[in-house]
Amino acid sequence: MTTDSKTVLIAVAWPYASGSRHIGHLAGAYLPADIFARYQRAIGNRALMVSGSDVHGTPITVRAEDEGVDPQVIVDRYHAEFVRQWDELGFDWDLFTTTGTDNHHAVTQDVFATLHEHGYIDRRESEQFFDPEADRFLPDRYVEGTCPHCGYDNARGDQCDNCGRTLDPVDLIDPRSRLTGATPVQRTTEHFYLRLSDFSDRLKAWLESREGWRKHVLNFSLGWIEEGLHDRAITRDIEWGVEIPVEGLGDGKRIYVWFDAVIGYLSASKEWAQIHGTPDAWQDWWQNDEAEHYYFIGKDNVPFHTIIWPAMLLGYGGLNLPTDVPANQFVTFKGGKASASRGIGLTIGEALERYQPDALRYALAANFPETSDVDLTEAELVRRINEELVATWGNLVNRVVSMTHRYFDGVVPEPGDLLDADRAVVDSVDQVLVDAGEHLDAVRLRGALATLLTGAQATNQYLSDQEPWKTAKTDLVRTATTLYSALQAIAGLAAGFAPYLPATSTKVLATLGLDGSARQPAWKRAEVRPGSVLGPAEPLYAKVELPEDTD
Ligand code: MF3
Ligand code: ZN
Repeated sequence: MTTDSKTVLIAVAWPYASGSRHIGHLAGAYLPADIFARYQRAIGNRALMVSGSDVHGTPITVRAEDEGVDPQVIVDRYHAEFVRQWDELGFDWDLFTTTGTDNHHAVTQDVFATLHEHGYIDRRESEQFFDPEADRFLPDRYVEGTCPHCGYDNARGDQCDNCGRTLDPVDLIDPRSRLTGATPVQRTTEHFYLRLSDFSDRLKAWLESREGWRKHVLNFSLGWIEEGLHDRAITRDIEWGVEIPVEGLGDGKRIYVWFDAVIGYLSASKEWAQIHGTPDAWQDWWQNDEAEHYYFIGKDNVPFHTIIWPAMLLGYGGLNLPTDVPANQFVTFKGGKASASRGIGLTIGEALERYQPDALRYALAANFPETSDVDLTEAELVRRINEELVATWGNLVNRVVSMTHRYFDGVVPEPGDLLDADRAVVDSVDQVLVDAGEHLDAVRLRGALATLLTGAQATNQYLSDQEPWKTAKTDLVRTATTLYSALQAIAGLAAGFAPYLPATSTKVLATLGLDGSARQPAWKRAEVRPGSVLGPAEPLYAKVELPEDTD
C-alpha cells in the first residue's frame, strides 16, 4: 500500500430477497460496483465492498403470504440464490450479508434510538389504509392502485414501477387491498416519524457542494428538496422487521424497511470488521474524513441515498456522507422497465444459463445505463459478445499465443530491434490504461470499457500491418519482434480488462506467465519476459447464438 492509497467504501444496493433479480438490477447496481471495487484495488486503494439481502418489508411478506409460507422461507431461498450467482459472476465482496442478523438489528436500533435522542424522531398520528375484510392495516405494497403521477394502473403503495416515483399508499387513485381486493378505508394509527424537513438546508448545501455527480442524480435530488421535504413515517403496522427500540407505540409495529436497509451499509461494515478480527476497523471507513464512499444503486433508489440516508447520517453525527452516488438509470426491455416479478427481461439465473459469466459482464458493461435509460435486447448482448469480446479481444489473444507456439515453441522470443510501430503499439496500450483509468476514476465504466476495446483494435491492426505469419518465412527475427510486442500489449490490456473480465483476465495473465490473482495492485502493464514459456492457446470465449425464443 502506498502512502497516497485511499480508503474507499463501495456500498451496493441491497437486493430484496423476495424474488429472483434480473439483469437490469445486475447492470444497474451490482456489476458496476464489482467493476469499480476491482479497479480500486488494482490501483492500490483499500476498498471495502459490502451489501447483503434486504430481508424486511412488504416485498418479503407479500410474497410469503402469496405462497403461504413463513417470510424466512422466502428470505433463505433468495439469499442462497444471490450468493450462488455472485459466486458464478466472480463478485469480490468483502461481505454479502443480510439485514436479518443480530448485528444489523442492533446497529439499526442504535441509529433509531440516537436519532430519537437527538430530537430527529417523534411520534405522530396519521391516517393509514386499513382492510376491513382482513381486519389489518395495509402498509406499502399491500395496497395497489393507479399512480397519481403517470396514471400507471398497477402502481404499488410504496412506489410506481412505471415512473419510479416513491409513493404513499393514500396517494393512489382507486386503491385496492392486495390481500382481499377490498377498497381500503382510512384509520388512525400512531407511528414514529423522521423529521426530514429539519435537514433541508444542510442537505441542500451539501448537495450543491458535490462535484462530478451525474446530472440526473443531482437534479433529481435538488428537485426533491425544492418541492419541500416531508417528515416521513419510519415505522409500520407489520410484524416482520426490526423491533422499535423506543417505547410508546405498543405491539404490532416495526421499523420501516427503508429505514433499516440503508443502515445496512454501516452494520455490514461493522460485521466485516468483527469477522476480520479487527472490530474497530469499520471506523477507518466511517469516521475518517479522508475515506470516500461510493453508492451503487439504480435510479429508483436515489432519494433514499442522496437525501434520507444522508439526513440520518447527519442526525446521528460523526459518520461520513456519500462521496458520490453514481446511480444508473434503467435498463428497459422493449421500452418497458425490467421486472422479474412481471417476467420482463432475463433473470440473472436465466442469463447465466445462456452466457459465460465474463461474456455477460462484458455485454452488460458495454450497455450500462449511466446517462440515460438503455433498451437492451438479447440481439445486442449477442452482438457485443461476438463482435467485440470474441472477435476483437478473444481472437487477439488466441492468435498471438498460437503464433508464439507455432513459430517459437511457445517460448516468448527475444525481440530484434524495435521499430516505431512496435513501440507505438505498446505505448498505445499504456495510454489506454491511463485514459481508461480516468474514466474509471469518474465512474464512467462504459467509457473505460470502450477505451480498452480500442486498445485491442489497435493491437489487431498492428498485427495486420506487420503480418508476422508472412515474415516468419523470410525474417524470423522480425516475427519475434512483432509477437514480443503484441504479447506486451496483451499483458497491458488484460490488466485493464481485469475489473470487467476477472476470470478470463486471470487466465490470460497466467498464460503469459504473469500473476493475475485478485487484490494485487495491478493497473499496469507487466513485462512478458523473453524466455518464459506460454501456457496453451485456448479460446477464451465461445461465440454465442441468439436464442430461438427471442423476438
Ligand atoms: N431493497 C431495495 C431495492 O431492491 C434497495 C435497498 S438499497 C438500501 O430496491 F439502501 F436500502 F440498502
Ligand atoms: Zn407512476
